[in-house]
Amino acid sequence: MGRLRYIGSKARIVHAILDVIGAPAGGRFVDVFSGTGVVGREAADRGWIVKANDHLVSSATITFAQLVSKGDVLFRYWGGYEEAVSALNEVSPVEGFIFDEYAPTGRSRSGQERKYFTPKNAARIDGIRAEIERLRRADSISEGEYRVLLADLMEAANRIANIAGTYGCFLSQFVSAAQKNLTLEPRILRHVKRDFSVTCADAFALAVRPEDVVYLDPPYNKRQYAAYYHVLETIVAGDKPEVGGVTGLRPWRAKSSPFCFRKTALSSLTRLCGVLGAKDVFISYSSEGHINLSDLETGLRETGLVTTIDLGSIGRYRPNHVAGLKDSVTEYLVRYQHQEVTKAKRSLLDLGVRR
Ligand SMILES: C[S@@+](CC[C@H](N)C(=O)[O-])C[C@H]1O[C@@H](n2cnc3c(N)ncnc32)[C@H](O)[C@@H]1O
Repeated sequence: MGRLRYIGSKARIVHAILDVIGAPAGGRFVDVFSGTGVVGREAADRGWIVKANDHLVSSATITFAQLVSKGDVLFRYWGGYEEAVSALNEVSPVEGFIFDEYAPTGRSRSGQERKYFTPKNAARIDGIRAEIERLRRADSISEGEYRVLLADLMEAANRIANIAGTYGCFLSQFVSAAQKNLTLEPRILRHVKRDFSVTCADAFALAVRPEDVVYLDPPYNKRQYAAYYHVLETIVAGDKPEVGGVTGLRPWRAKSSPFCFRKTALSSLTRLCGVLGAKDVFISYSSEGHINLSDLETGLRETGLVTTIDLGSIGRYRPNHVAGLKDSVTEYLVRYQHQEVTKAKRSLLDLGVRR
């Protein structure tokens, strides 16, 4: 299960997605836009060797924590994982970067009072982040243990963040969840060891083998993840970027995603399918997205077979809506199988293949 509320998370439909994709047949499962890592984790549970990727370090870190198995991270320094988490929860607070910039302490470099965290919780985040870094530098913990603890800290921070879902803005008054004490909670690590790798790269830079099955779940609207999750990115990166404006946004433009612009989303997606060179690609598509489904199907049919599978509607209740009224989003999987398509075949395909 995903423990992070995340735009576009497939936590609720991950089983349906993997049911369609099926069992491993020689290649790896490549999750190019892994986000919270829930899809890769389910694939690993079903026997796939997973190669996951996301261009955000926060997502790549949480994805790692989803894929790593218990036996890979023994936390010997403390005598176990639960002990590690308990020890970190006792670390002394430090008034560091998160305290200065994201709590109303009057210490922000730009003079902005930001209310993402209470001063007490911000200092706890800084203290625990510094301790995790110190232990890694001293080689007291492994790289894998380091990443799991960073993911735990990020999720703990997210539980008490004074936000309405994303870090696009903070709330003007501290809500009750934000006033609770920041507490790390151990996650349920995977039991069965499976080979996997996680990278933090641009989708277009990934190396994929022809026999791999590729899963693409790119952003589907204009919300840029690098900007909407900037505070989590800074907590995990542990850097001190030049932040500015009301929300203390870190420089993020280098990670601006072409999939977030209506103008470039479709061409980027069809180009990516070509660049990756995999023969079998599954694309998550939501009826809410800014690409038109038939445009996507037509674009992909230029170079391959396209099958669209309807995964059904997912109810989405909105607060403040008239009771009982429900918006729904339909989720699809668009399967693209690369091959040279003859003219005759294409005219048949243009009739559309739907299940
Ligand atoms: C819809 S979310 C994926 C959600 C994921 N399937 C889940 O269930 O949690 C899209 C992800 O794509 C990532 N992303 C956007 N542009 C990217 C790019 N050019 N290369 C790699 N990752 C990118 C974002 O950081 C975000 O985590």
